[in-house]
Amino acid sequence: MHHYEAEVRAAAERWRALGRPAPRVALVAGSGLSVDLGAPVAGPEPLAGWLPFPVRAVAGHGHELELLEPGPGLTALYFRGRLHAYQGYSASEVVFPVRLAAALGVRTLVMTNAAGGVRPEWPAGTLAAVSDQINLTGLSPLCGEPPESWGPRFPDMLDAHSAELRALAHEHAERLGHPLVEGVYAGLLGPAYETAAEVRMLRAMGADLVGMSTVLEIIAARHRGLRCLVLSLVANPGAGVTPQPLTHDEVLEAGRAAAGRVRALLAALLADPRLHES
Ligand code: HPA
Repeated sequence: MHHYEAEVRAAAERWRALGRPAPRVALVAGSGLSVDLGAPVAGPEPLAGWLPFPVRAVAGHGHELELLEPGPGLTALYFRGRLHAYQGYSASEVVFPVRLAAALGVRTLVMTNAAGGVRPEWPAGTLAAVSDQINLTGLSPLCGEPPESWGPRFPDMLDAHSAELRALAHEHAERLGHPLVEGVYAGLLGPAYETAAEVRMLRAMGADLVGMSTVLEIIAARHRGLRCLVLSLVANPGAGVTPQPLTHDEVLEAGRAAAGRVRALLAALLADPRLHES
């Protein structure tokens, strides 16, 4: 697999040549969760301008890049919209933004996604901090020979979803009065939603949330040694949890309905200097 090593380096050099600061935090927002986080100090600009391959759009998923200044002396790279393997991107392409962030000096990755709720007691609108993940995509961004300088051949995946950052998320959620649960995210390739039998399998496996993103980016981020925090919005009960069929519109609508809560929690986290220290 092609890892875009030279392209990652070239994009990072171009960023620095523009005189832009080196952010310590990157935020990647998922489906319908691309909330406004204040006026950017650079951008918004098309993500396509930073990618060495063409962007393929999905309804409801824009692709823009912003540099935020969430507090005095704090900067964060904000990817509004992500790339999914089901769109036809290779695993290396899916994680290009994460590898670019790492090359710019980012040490902490925050991501949001929309997910199906595997637990029957979690209605649409439930917000969860992801405690761990199960990669069921059959893919890895580390296949082939990624550059040795990027990380170990066999990276450890304990604490892939940082306990320290989850504690920070709970602290802010509590202060805001927003309930935040915690659960295991199963990442599947998609783009078909799961069958009811697959959701029963996921529940038996120990998954609480199911989605079509995130797990590859977390593998790439851990390979580069980044700390990771993932916030999942339960957009719908998983297939078969209720008799309703699943639709993409329902997922986007759940994102719109939760945007205020997601924005408040992200803004609080980004403004916290502890997120930027690592
Ligand atoms: N399954 C997979 N991905 C999803 C779902 C789901 O039910 N909802 C939002 N993304």
